Amino acid sequence: MFPGASLIHALQCLAGIDQPHTQTTELERAALAKWARGRSRAAEIGVYEGLTTRVIAEVLADDGELFAIDPFLAGRLGICWSKLIARRHLRASRCGSRVRWVEHLSHEAVHQFDGKLDFLFIDGDHSLQGIQRDWRDWSCRIAQDGIVALHDTRAPPHNPRVGDLGSCRYFASHIRHDPRFELLEQVDSLSVLRRGATGRSAQSDVRTGQERPMNPKAGA
Ligand SMILES: C[S@@+](CC[C@H](N)C(=O)[O-])C[C@H]1O[C@@H](n2cnc3c(N)ncnc32)[C@H](O)[C@@H]1O
Repeated sequence: MFPGASLIHALQCLAGIDQPHTQTTELERAALAKWARGRSRAAEIGVYEGLTTRVIAEVLADDGELFAIDPFLAGRLGICWSKLIARRHLRASRCGSRVRWVEHLSHEAVHQFDGKLDFLFIDGDHSLQGIQRDWRDWSCRIAQDGIVALHDTRAPPHNPRVGDLGSCRYFASHIRHDPRFELLEQVDSLSVLRRGATGRSAQSDVRTGQERPMNPKAGA
């Protein structure tokens, strides 16, 4: 991108004449929409400019809610353009009222919620340490039959470098062998799992797994 291209992109998005950027493919977004459809309590870790946030929010149940988690760190001018773009993109949709903005890192946000989720999209910190922490913190928050989708967890032919990411390596070594979950499908670099009813870990989660309404003490 040439110097200033990001600013032009941001201004055009805010004027409604450009679309938010995303690293997801069309097929991945279609899979997110398919598995999020009709769900009622969802979260996305890693919002960026909000394109996938809207894809998910649009298909939730009418009274569904989506916790959109991202620290939205400000840039050199003290402005976080991606936050402005994301908020504008959701305001322009019919589903903006379903989104609860949570301006924190995922490992901070997790302590501010009660209850469970029936859909989670993990697309935040792709380092080994980041995905390990997200899986430890958030996998136990998925309700029985709930769905978790993880981006950059398989190297697709069009982007083999995804295979070097911690998210991809940890998925192959740990997540896909987690006995609490079954792998439903993989689309490009996206993996989709469902939480089953059985397994030692699932039973121990019952101690913390009361299904109470989400209580976001964070948010803007
Ligand atoms: C790949 S982008 C997300 C893109 C978005 N899901 C989409 O496809 O439109 C990654 C985002 O994750 C955020 N992020 C990085 N680490 C995070 C963490 N630990 N918790 C929450 N968000 C994080 C970054 O600020 C960035 O906006």
